[in-house]
Amino acid sequence: MKQSNLSAQKSPKANVEPVSYNTNKLQRGVIRMEKSRQHWGSRLSFVLAAAGSAIGLGNIWKFPYIAGENGGGAFVLIYLCCIAAIGIPVLIAELYIGQKSQKNPVDAFAHLNGNSDKFAIIGWAGVFSSFLILSFYSVVGGWVLEFLYQSITGNLTSLDDKQITSVFPAILAKPSLLIVWHTVFMALTFGIVLGGVKEGIEKWSRILMPTLLVILIGLFIQSMTLPGFTDALSFLFSPSTAKLTKAGILEAIGHAFFTLSLGMGVMMTYGSYLDENESLVKTSITVALLDTVIALVAGIVIFSIVFTYGHNPEGGPGLIFSTLPLMFSKMAGGSFLSIAFFTLVLFAALTSAISILETVVAVATERYGMTRKQAIIKIGSIIYLLGVLCALSFNELADFKPVMGLTIFDLFDKLTANILLPLGGMLISIYYGWVLGPKHVEKTIGGNLFFVSGLLFCCRLLAPLGVLLFFLNALGVIDY
Ligand code: PHE
Repeated sequence: MKQSNLSAQKSPKANVEPVSYNTNKLQRGVIRMEKSRQHWGSRLSFVLAAAGSAIGLGNIWKFPYIAGENGGGAFVLIYLCCIAAIGIPVLIAELYIGQKSQKNPVDAFAHLNGNSDKFAIIGWAGVFSSFLILSFYSVVGGWVLEFLYQSITGNLTSLDDKQITSVFPAILAKPSLLIVWHTVFMALTFGIVLGGVKEGIEKWSRILMPTLLVILIGLFIQSMTLPGFTDALSFLFSPSTAKLTKAGILEAIGHAFFTLSLGMGVMMTYGSYLDENESLVKTSITVALLDTVIALVAGIVIFSIVFTYGHNPEGGPGLIFSTLPLMFSKMAGGSFLSIAFFTLVLFAALTSAISILETVVAVATERYGMTRKQAIIKIGSIIYLLGVLCALSFNELADFKPVMGLTIFDLFDKLTANILLPLGGMLISIYYGWVLGPKHVEKTIGGNLFFVSGLLFCCRLLAPLGVLLFFLNALGVIDY
């Protein structure tokens, strides 16, 4: 029985953890569980949770450094186009599939498609991506924790220039340190997801997201007082194509999927906790806008500091971990800023990590009848161990490069961001545009012909073709 949001709020049962279906009589995946699903308490809670998933390391760690590596403005412009033309339509499609089916990403397709399991592979691919992304994500979350720790103890800002630049490489060289912080980050993620949709994810998103916004606004105001502020603006917003390469364009499309948490069923899962009649379009646009604005503001803050101290914007993945601490140590109030900044990154990372874990937990509890706790322990341990391999990629396993000369960490990152997420997003938009078709698109956004045709055009053609070009280009079949 599907449960409306309103009744979910009224009925105390709606909050109750899904019934445990440990009975072996349950044929896996055949008898679908019809039980009261947990639902978000309000639309705002959903927006905060979905924005929490979207806003993460992708916005604060990855976006600034890939924008920096690709010369700034022109890359940003292409990225914005990808978000508008591909990201938002695929986000709407994903949320709709979850919302209408009220199922986890593996069962959702069959539910909407006359019980045919043909498309469940898209959901399974998403589960696979979740394992990979969360494992390396948690290691980066661990770096953030270590920097936060060093900021709080005052160690980070008390070092001289030379010492500070060696902090990050020194952290990467210590397997035990990386594993300890990875463990802490995973434990925080497990703890929140264990609480369930309302008492865990919703509650924490309502605390972490507003705090994140306040910290970012504070840092933004501070960055406006820096001499590098205008340079940062012109770096990010004047579209010089000098440094934009083919690889940069690909990175922009891949990043549009990564940053909006698309292509792996995360948004589908969050959509499935939404009341069936809740309108999706405005919410999707709000989430995409918040995600984009926060990436840009984080970019402005970071590059204002970078330019003020005459550093190179092409700092690569170490940009926020090597370049920023160096500058915090020189700034007035630097240690406070450093604590604020790494708290911000930690909160952003956590709200994304919980959404990834929730996706797999939803499949395990609903399809395999596990309790939340069992699912988290079993699945969590596998993800945790994969994360340990990612942590070792920087030291003990640095020379282990099983595929295409990539370490395990890089492999998981590239495989998901550059292949699995765009591919998943492409299939989801084909499913929505072609298999579900115009009737469902109309149901999503109402009868306005202009918007229906626009969304249909994006999901049927623009998004799949965009991703196809992305792949053909990556494979070297076409060159543009
Ligand atoms: N969107 C998150 C970020 O920007 C990462 C993420 C990817 C989360 C895929 C969930 C699913 O950091």
